[in-house]
Amino acid sequence: MRKLTYYIACTIDGFIGDPEGDATSMYKYVDEAYLRWMNAEYPETVPTQGREALGIDNPGKHFDTVIQGVGSYRIALDIGITSPYNHLRELVATRSLTESPHPNVELIHDDLVGRVRELKAEDGPLGIWLCGGSTVAGELVDEIDELIIKTYPQMYGTGMPMFGAGFEPRDFELDDVRVFDNGVLVRRYSRKR
Ligand SMILES: NC(=O)c1ccc[n+]([C@@H]2O[C@H](COP(=O)([O-])OP(=O)(O)OC[C@H]3O[C@@H](n4cnc5c(N)ncnc54)[C@H](OP(=O)(O)O)[C@@H]3O)[C@@H](O)[C@H]2O)c1
Repeated sequence: MRKLTYYIACTIDGFIGDPEGDATSMYKYVDEAYLRWMNAEYPETVPTQGREALGIDNPGKHFDTVIQGVGSYRIALDIGITSPYNHLRELVATRSLTESPHPNVELIHDDLVGRVRELKAEDGPLGIWLCGGSTVAGELVDEIDELIIKTYPQMYGTGMPMFGAGFEPRDFELDDVRVFDNGVLVRRYSRKR
């Protein structure tokens, strides 16, 4: 079984963006030390254009596949990037986009959970990165095996929640915590089944 990992950036109060999903106010915490760590540990989560600009050729050791909702994918599309994670296998959940804008991007039109279960059942040493956003994470919440939460020392008060899901307690085990001098905290949790 391959793992589905929700690797996400959020505020102290658990928002992944402002009410529209914009997370740019958190970028100021992406300083040199933190960036060096992220690029070394999770280079596969750096968009392809960024990898090229930074000279990152490390394929990464965690993920070979990324899933995102079209709300998240549209951020790249709007600036003319049709395959933002071209170094990975890319899947985008959408009901409205009928044709894939890029041969590397597979669209999931229905049975999102079923498609994710198929991906998880494939053989392979690397896992599946759930990139977001909130709606798709809420729909896939029960398929998530691991959470990697990058918490920035900022509070929003309101905004886009990490999960667009209803109330239900779900338990996780804390596997690792990394603290950076600038107050960024990266926690890794496994799902308790
Ligand atoms: N902080 C972070 O690390 C981070 C990471 C990623 C994203 N984000 C933010 O998250 C925001 C996007 O989140 P969001 O909740 O608005 O959107 P989203 O979850 O990215 O995408 C939602 C869309 O996915 C499609 N969808 C949902 N469920 C589906 C299903 N079962 N089958 C097929 N398609 C399905 C629908 O597309 P259609 O409308 O086409 O039907 C829906 O409108 C962005 O603003 C981004 O900035 C933040």
